[in-house]
Amino acid sequence: MCGIVGYLGEKPAQPILIAGLKRLEYRGYDSAGIVSLSPRSKATLVRAKGKVSELVAKVSEAPKTDVIGIGHTRWATHGEPSKRNAHPHNVGDIYLVHNGIIENYQDLKAMLSRYDYEMKSDTDTEVLTALIDYLSHKHETLLEAVSGALNMVVGAYGIAVIDRKNPDEIIVARKGSPLILGLGKGEVFIASDASAIVGYTDQVIYLRDGEVAQCMRDGVELYDLEQNVVSQTVETLEIDLQAIQKQGHKHFLEKEIYEQPETVRATLGGRIDTEKHTAKLGGLNMTDAELRAVKHIFVVGCGTASYAGLLAKYYIEQLAPDVMVSVEVASELRYRSFTVPENSVALFVSQSGETADTLACLTEMKRRGVRCLGVVNAVGSTIAREVDGGVYLHVGAEISVASTKAFTSQVVAMVIFGIMLADSKGADKRVISEFVDELDSLPSQIEALLAEQAGEIAGIAKKYAKYEHALYIGRDALFPVALEGALKMKEISYIHAEGYPSGELKHGPIALIDDRFFEVCYIQDNWLYEKSQSNLIEMNARGAHAIAITDTTKKVPAENVIRVKTKLSYLTPLLFNIVTQLLAYNIAIARKTDVDQPRNLAKSVTVE
Ligand code: M6R
Repeated sequence: MCGIVGYLGEKPAQPILIAGLKRLEYRGYDSAGIVSLSPRSKATLVRAKGKVSELVAKVSEAPKTDVIGIGHTRWATHGEPSKRNAHPHNVGDIYLVHNGIIENYQDLKAMLSRYDYEMKSDTDTEVLTALIDYLSHKHETLLEAVSGALNMVVGAYGIAVIDRKNPDEIIVARKGSPLILGLGKGEVFIASDASAIVGYTDQVIYLRDGEVAQCMRDGVELYDLEQNVVSQTVETLEIDLQAIQKQGHKHFLEKEIYEQPETVRATLGGRIDTEKHTAKLGGLNMTDAELRAVKHIFVVGCGTASYAGLLAKYYIEQLAPDVMVSVEVASELRYRSFTVPENSVALFVSQSGETADTLACLTEMKRRGVRCLGVVNAVGSTIAREVDGGVYLHVGAEISVASTKAFTSQVVAMVIFGIMLADSKGADKRVISEFVDELDSLPSQIEALLAEQAGEIAGIAKKYAKYEHALYIGRDALFPVALEGALKMKEISYIHAEGYPSGELKHGPIALIDDRFFEVCYIQDNWLYEKSQSNLIEMNARGAHAIAITDTTKKVPAENVIRVKTKLSYLTPLLFNIVTQLLAYNIAIARKTDVDQPRNLAKSVTVE
């Protein structure tokens, strides 16, 4: 979603702001802007609809050497994508960039109109800018004006504010939308995402909800909204520049698909014992007895994270048969009336650790006294900080909007959790051992798949790029894979794709099949093989153009068959999923879409 950058130091701010905005492009946006202040308090505001490159072209017409500035990439919520609605917004001497949504902006706007404030844009952000300007005439300092305004605001925000009259200070604040401060020598970097700070400094402060920071060249002071000084913790940033570069790949998506052998190794690192066939998650903060008592698990997430949860449900319920797993889409759960069964724990699955709906469910579960655990990738993210314990994925930065390596590792992390649960409950040791062994060989199995079959998959993908519709079907653990496969296809190729359990075909979706559709059928050579094969035959009888993805050596009646050679069984669905990641990627390339930054999408959905 929207991105914030800021700089205050001795170097020219414009190139630093633009480099930061470029690094935030992956988050998704539709306009961009920067403002810088000269030592004589002259503001230079440049905004543009479209890509950061449009902004760069405008900036280069009259570049400035100002050493303070803030910038923004906007993903439209209030008002169309346009220069007029782009940030920074300016009212009087105040310039402001904002991530999030001000819910009571209409009331504030009505109040401000009584003092002759007229808005030039359609945004909630301009209203907040005007409110700060209004209060700046009643207070001595910008810090007081910003705190006063934020005390009147309902909603979520990460903001950076400057006052034209004071080119030596940036005020930032957060509630529900992340902000990181990078501390250099005589300089401060501000960003909504660590990737914009990497390479400048590794000393960072993660702002907490309700905090306001006064950034000056010689350091940072943190306050609460009542302007009491609060403590600050400086941490060392863990990602490096390599993690945010394509390293020879055409797209981040391709890089991230190919990283999976390594990222799964990183998720497994030191967490499974292949001799004793046990597993350990250090950060879980649960005793054996507490694990043994668990009878019910809520798995909460959005999009791909929720599909990872659904796949993990099949595995956890197999490993620990006395445990029931409910997979909840966070945007639904947060507004639903629901009961919490006794002995429940809740897993919050999120790559970014900042997804607004998932975070809202976490707050509600905590309020109800449920033990909350995170399955998170972004170290230091809000969800990771708010949970009682959990597991980091350690897959490194995932830059492409479409999630790939995070999905695989989310499932792996939850299987490890399932193994611990099963072990604590004295569940079937044979099943536990098989899962441990399969986890152990998963990285090499992914390696083999990528090395031996990527070319074949790319060749098949080209034949299907002309279709506008696709139906993905699978049974058992392949149903969540069908959902995830269809999501990947629609996100990056813009082909309309739907995922269904194979057994549901006759209950409706088979009516869709015609020459505009192709079908992706996942068929595992297990106790459901015959049933899955029958579904394929039924579709063929209606003129299907099916691609079968299977591990069988038997004859499969499909237009194209992708045979995955593997010794896995439980975890084969993860390999099949990688096949459809490659299928979607290659079809997207053939259709010449913006693979890493698909239209209308944002990497991390920090507003509802
Ligand atoms: O950062 P999160 O894992 O919480 O994000 C959840 C979804 O927004 C995300 O998985 C989304 O569905 C991706 N674009 C899928 O590729």
